[in-house]
Amino acid sequence: MAKDEVSQAARKPVRVQLIEQPTNILKSWQMMRENVLNIIPDSATREKVISGKTATRWHMVMGPDAIQHILLERVEDYPKSIVTKDLLRPAIGESLFIAEGAHWRWQRRTSAPAFSHRNVSALGPVMTDAAERAAGRIAQAGPRAVNMLDEMVTATFDVIAEVTFSDDGSFDRNAVHGAIEAYVSEAGRISLLDVLGAPSWIPRPSRLASATQMSEMRQAADHAIEARAARGAGPVPDLLDLLLDGQDPKSGRRMTTGELRDNLLTFIVAGHETTALTLAWSFYLCAFDETVQDRAREEARRVLQGRAATADDLPDLPFIRQIIDEALRLYPPAGVVSRTAQKADDVGGADIRPNDTVMIPIYALGRHRLLWDDPDQFKPDRFANRKAIRRYAYLPFGDGPRICIGASFAVQEAVIILATLLSRFRFTSVKGRDPKPVMILTLRPEGGVWLMAEPL
Ligand code: HEM
Repeated sequence: MAKDEVSQAARKPVRVQLIEQPTNILKSWQMMRENVLNIIPDSATREKVISGKTATRWHMVMGPDAIQHILLERVEDYPKSIVTKDLLRPAIGESLFIAEGAHWRWQRRTSAPAFSHRNVSALGPVMTDAAERAAGRIAQAGPRAVNMLDEMVTATFDVIAEVTFSDDGSFDRNAVHGAIEAYVSEAGRISLLDVLGAPSWIPRPSRLASATQMSEMRQAADHAIEARAARGAGPVPDLLDLLLDGQDPKSGRRMTTGELRDNLLTFIVAGHETTALTLAWSFYLCAFDETVQDRAREEARRVLQGRAATADDLPDLPFIRQIIDEALRLYPPAGVVSRTAQKADDVGGADIRPNDTVMIPIYALGRHRLLWDDPDQFKPDRFANRKAIRRYAYLPFGDGPRICIGASFAVQEAVIILATLLSRFRFTSVKGRDPKPVMILTLRPEGGVWLMAEPL
């Protein structure tokens, strides 16, 4: 290898220097408020399990077998952490995302058909339109640098609003967007502090600041659902139509207006920012490594021949998909998932007691020395053979029965948008404006993803 190639191969995309040792408690709470990645010690990328005690007993689990035990084999003993639920409940009720046991199970069974391959493919045109609109906006914005994070937030919100409450004039999209963003950013700050039992003297934002906004939004959603139920489904059923039509195959039970509303709002909360972040980080990585970008563009242009990508193109865009997989490994939007243990247990040698917090630091898992070669480097080819990826070692969508219901929806949307935009523009980074990975509730590129977008 020539010297230049060596240094190119060793270059690493932006990352956070994980802490070596948990520092004194006051200092680490402050660091954590700024960036939750600061709670993950560097040893989480080398060890299989780490245990500690702050205000509460906690464990971080990185061994794939132990993770399988928590997320699959003993799923009933490890419900989602209580504080996360308490915080999300005002926004999304007892929906699929936070319900447990029988109430979770019937909602999952009833919602699953809406996310079948056939139904997700049928929603492809909404994603293709959003990709076209994003291309139009970026073309207009040039030749200045564009914040691809903002662009992707707009594009993914267009998609999720269209497939949940499309054409329902009574539903003010911007108001919904504002209310959800305000609530989630507030809730996110508090919830992760609470997961680790932050001492009560830590200053926290008011829990209620956006509550009125949320309750108005819930009412607007109820009206929109009732209007749709009266009007009937459109020619291509969207998620609301599919849920309205849905029925638990076991009990025959149907969702009430309130249950429909909570689940649709859940899809908006869980599905929109996460997909936007995946795309924003993918664009950052393509600008970081122009060789990868050229290869991806070559694939996209060969398949698309000037048109925007559709759901049918997915099997022909494997390299675009690998870039998304790799972005999700390096910058998983859900960087940590947490559970509250119900029973005493031994997980990979850790002594678990009831009420202990059990975290799976997905960010550290993606960069684990025992699981990946050159873990901090951007190498989409590691996903060329997906069968070679060890199960429970790569968890951007979680796993087990609580695995993300929208994973194929998100991947389809991300491939369509990334392929379309790479086929139309060359993206280059702007010196001195690299984003910083910061996790509050999700792992965001702080400062935005500013790129020059040169039309082709
Ligand atoms: C790249 C985008 C996405 C990422 C990274 C992501 C990640 C995740 C993760 C990690 C979980 C499991 C959480 C846990 O076990 O504690 C989850 C659950 C969930 N996600 Fe996603 N998600 C994405 C997109 C979506 C979309 C598009 C939707 C819906 C339209 C969605 C809806 C949900 C729901 C309803 C659950 C709860 C499922 C259950 O508990 O049965 N997500 N997601």
